[in-house]
Amino acid sequence: MFMEGLLKTAKNFLVNGTARQSYEEACYGLKQCVERLNPEELHILEKDPYLDKSCISFVNVAECQSFAISVFVIPTGLKLPLHDHIGMTVITKVLWGELDVDSFDFVEKDKFVCHHMGGDGVQYPSFTMKAGDCHIFYPFKANLHEFKARRRCAIVDFMWPPYNPAEDRDCHYFMSQPNSGFRRKDTEISKVVYLQRIPCPSYFYTQEVLYRGPPFDLRYL
Ligand SMILES: [Fe+2]
Repeated sequence: MFMEGLLKTAKNFLVNGTARQSYEEACYGLKQCVERLNPEELHILEKDPYLDKSCISFVNVAECQSFAISVFVIPTGLKLPLHDHIGMTVITKVLWGELDVDSFDFVEKDKFVCHHMGGDGVQYPSFTMKAGDCHIFYPFKANLHEFKARRRCAIVDFMWPPYNPAEDRDCHYFMSQPNSGFRRKDTEISKVVYLQRIPCPSYFYTQEVLYRGPPFDLRYL
């Protein structure tokens, strides 16, 4: 099963500490595994009656100290608000449906302060992800992002390390605003912005549903 393959690869790269591969090789190997995940194995089908069509559903598939796997089902027009992943790498695959992605980075030297206080940032060109598409968001590139469902969709996120406020990896929310205070000539930057730190938006509500895919035990992989 593909989930088992992902978990074993994750354990090899991220848990055991025996893997001699580089960060780039870990990204490549783990992305290959995430790309193989499918809605049938995860039991996340468009027609599943237990997935509420009026709000965002959240499935905590697996979580340990080294990584986390989550599924979000997002109704048409709803969005995961602009948020960050301090020091984390996130591989996102669209299981079905379609979503628009906006991604950002802070440009100031002390990014840690920016994640807590807000700051000048850059926005990359928006893009659309369709069923089967897979994308990596890095600690150093496109670390902040917003997902809006163009059509009702399900995504699976594999992230490492996982969010952990005790290790200063909390999730923060932001609002992007126009910013004419500085210029960048990078061709891949679409515009400069100011990323204002905001509380979790009141419209953002998720309903947690149980994982119904094949059982596994992280301890015995
Ligand atoms: Fe995210």
